[in-house]
Amino acid sequence: YEAQLDLSDIEKGAYPYYMLKEIDDQPAVMRRIVQEYTDTLGRTVIDEDIIKQITASDRIYVIACGTSYNAGWVGKAILEKMTNIPVEVHLSSEFGYNMPLLSDNPFFIFLSQSGETADSRQVLVQTSELGLPSLTLTNVAGSTLSREADYTLLLHAGPEIAVASTKAYTAQIAVLAVLAKAVGDSKANPSSLDFDIAHELSVIATVIESIIAEKMTISQLVEDYLATTRNAFYIGRGVDYYVSMEASLKLKEISYIQAEGFAAGELKHGTIALIEEMTPVFGVITDKKTAAHTRGNLKEVESRGARNFVIALSSLAKETDQFVIPDVHPLLTALVSIIPTQLIAYFATLQRGYDVDKPRNLAKSVTVE
Ligand code: G6P
Repeated sequence: YEAQLDLSDIEKGAYPYYMLKEIDDQPAVMRRIVQEYTDTLGRTVIDEDIIKQITASDRIYVIACGTSYNAGWVGKAILEKMTNIPVEVHLSSEFGYNMPLLSDNPFFIFLSQSGETADSRQVLVQTSELGLPSLTLTNVAGSTLSREADYTLLLHAGPEIAVASTKAYTAQIAVLAVLAKAVGDSKANPSSLDFDIAHELSVIATVIESIIAEKMTISQLVEDYLATTRNAFYIGRGVDYYVSMEASLKLKEISYIQAEGFAAGELKHGTIALIEEMTPVFGVITDKKTAAHTRGNLKEVESRGARNFVIALSSLAKETDQFVIPDVHPLLTALVSIIPTQLIAYFATLQRGYDVDKPRNLAKSVTVE
């Protein structure tokens, strides 16, 4: 593989910050993933060996840190649905020192934008010593985790410069979805055969564009909700919870607002004590099964003074919701519901006067354990 650098990928051009450029890059990244990993008939194009190894495994272990870890949870939901293989998601820094009991035929997927994260590499060294098969999903061809794993799938997101990861997150989920489809098809799994991944990711690209076109609406809402707050919460259930974890990480790492992503139903078991008059609570609602329950949880916090901000899928939206997203395939909603939350973090940081691309205390890639 020869790395191809498109200069427009690494130059900010007219953008004030890399983060905004990288948020804007996401529709193009979705289309590039379709191009790289599917053929003109919409079939997946993935190394057959990878598919064979995963099909032969009885459990997939996803290992990652930070934003990549959050992407892993969304990937788990898609992989399990498409492949019927159980998936566990682990933090590298925990797995490395407290390895759980492994299944008989595990398959390891390392998620790492940079491919250089020391905590993840430490796990790969151990699993390789045990002779266990591994695949790295990374944005950087030739990176350490790519070289040392048995297989690599590139994210094709283009260089990500801002410390806060945006397009690598959506690229990881999209590539995991293609992989899930490839494995599911090889097992002739009906839910996979019915899933037109090329079409669905193309729809996602268009929907992301439509959300980005609303960025000034988001900017105004953010000014209203987050200008002076000390803390904020994101809540959701299932995939909406996984998105909430990433949305709150985004917000806290660059705006320094103390933010927590919570499973909506768990809030009442303790954390609700933190809700005060005007505490912003963002509810993510994209799943028919859980929408009513999450709305119930939003009512609970509202009655304790919270100010709710609802991000909902169009078919589940209420007139009073603050931000409505067009419907997409039910397994891929994270790819669109995360976009307003990236913009929320971006504008909150700008408005509070901090450097969006270079938050304090953080590095783009962490090469110490
Ligand atoms: C650092 C970055 C995060 C990133 C994490 C994992 O902490 O600040 O944005 O998610 O490392 O990085 P990786 O390159 O392994 O995905």
